[in-house]
Amino acid sequence: MPGIVIVGAQWGDEGKGKVTDLLAERASGIVRFQGGNNAGHTIVRDGEQFKFHLIPSGILYPDKACVIGNGVVLDPRVLLEEIDGLKRRGIDVANLRISANAHLIMPYHVLLDTAGEMKLGKLSIGTTRRGIGPCYADKALRLGIRVQDLLDEKILRKKILAALEPKQQALRELSVRRRKLRKEAGEERGGPAGDAPDPRLDLHTMTEEHLAYGHRLEPHIADTSRLCWEMLDAGETVLFEGAQATLLDLDHGTYPFVTSSNPIAGAACVGAGIGPTDIDEVWGVAKAYATRVGAGPFPTELSDETGRHMLERGHEFGTTTGRERRCGWMDLVALRYAVRLNRMSALTVTKLDVLSGIDPLRVAVRYRSREGAVFESFPYHQSILHSAEPEYEELPGFDVDLSTCRSESDLPPQARAYLKFIADFAGVPIRLVGVGPGRDQVVWIGEEPRLQAA
Ligand code: GDP
Ligand code: IMO
Ligand code: MG
Repeated sequence: MPGIVIVGAQWGDEGKGKVTDLLAERASGIVRFQGGNNAGHTIVRDGEQFKFHLIPSGILYPDKACVIGNGVVLDPRVLLEEIDGLKRRGIDVANLRISANAHLIMPYHVLLDTAGEMKLGKLSIGTTRRGIGPCYADKALRLGIRVQDLLDEKILRKKILAALEPKQQALRELSVRRRKLRKEAGEERGGPAGDAPDPRLDLHTMTEEHLAYGHRLEPHIADTSRLCWEMLDAGETVLFEGAQATLLDLDHGTYPFVTSSNPIAGAACVGAGIGPTDIDEVWGVAKAYATRVGAGPFPTELSDETGRHMLERGHEFGTTTGRERRCGWMDLVALRYAVRLNRMSALTVTKLDVLSGIDPLRVAVRYRSREGAVFESFPYHQSILHSAEPEYEELPGFDVDLSTCRSESDLPPQARAYLKFIADFAGVPIRLVGVGPGRDQVVWIGEEPRLQAA
């Protein structure tokens, strides 16, 4: 003990990577437990930027165990690119461990993700098109291919064949649709090349390619649950790094505009192979305002100058897809829901610096439905949420550069009052505040945690 879960409190991109990197200094292991390369976690160290999609945000410490748990869906091509990229920058990845039970995102998952989105048209979810949903679907259907299968040619070939068979129709439809689109765009005139099957889906090619991935990944493949138990039983600190966020949770988020896994803290147990009593603390990460990438309800969204300010000052562009993030006011109805769902013990508020120059500040404290009903808590009914109008509390803003603040007393009184209002309303203490992207650009509220590394 202790086990600490770090979880996104909004719609993702709250700064989980930075918080994980900070707390990792005091931990022995850092474990990803769900999601895949739909995630994009940024760390800025000494002015140098790192973006991680699959590798846990503890990898910059060569002495820590960095674990990709069984709950993650892993695209081996992307992982190897990430490993190679880190090696080129002189980062040692010898301590990376990958669960043999994690499921693989295969080329057909990526194609099916795109096919699904194209089919939905205007109703599309705005996925990252990284194959996440189709891969988790195959896992549930028991047609998934796992990391351990990369090490056995016979099993791998058989499993790919079995997984491909039920998808042929959808994949054929996709290639016909794509060909039609290309023709309409004048990019293709038909002929044999246009009619050829997608080479990425050839059974032999796919098997050979994945055996080669397996060969390269083999030194990292391990029984990662056992590894977590060993660290926890030795009294060392293990961080469980969430990806995505509470409101994108498959069960508790704004379904169907969610991801296909459970990013909430409870999922750390399943996705890492530990027990609920292994978790001692849950640290939520929220921005001082709110953002969302992709489609779905976002009650406090702003499409005015203030939203533009957040987008530009906060550099709100997706780490994975480069899309503009939708921006809006801090939504305390949603945050309080996230605090309870995760039973957070602490909250980190990032990007407070971005709010400088906005006066007054607003925070949503309740919703009103189209029919005039008041909702003090997050409504479970999607129709209500889609048309919910937030009601705001106004708080005084501040117009000073926060980027050099390092202690609570450095913060202007308006910023402290803003944080206090959030903590009181959400019912959780704020322990850490972000005032810039750098790892030193933080303000600890109260004592820094004294955690136990090996
Ligand atoms: P994650 O997915 O939750 O890890 O977050 P992302 O890395 O996708 O997005 C957060 C962005 O905000 C990154 O570009 C970070 O470098 C940046 N960031 C994190 N904390 C702060 C902060 O306190 N202030 C500012 N200005 N930027 C921050
Ligand atoms: P991190 O870990 C923000 C969003 C997508 C889309 C929905 C479903 O960096 O916070 P998916 O590809 O998962 O099937 O897409 O979820 N989404 C994220 N939004 N941050 C993320 O990760 C996200 N991962 C997925 O934009 O709306
Ligand atoms: Mg991100």
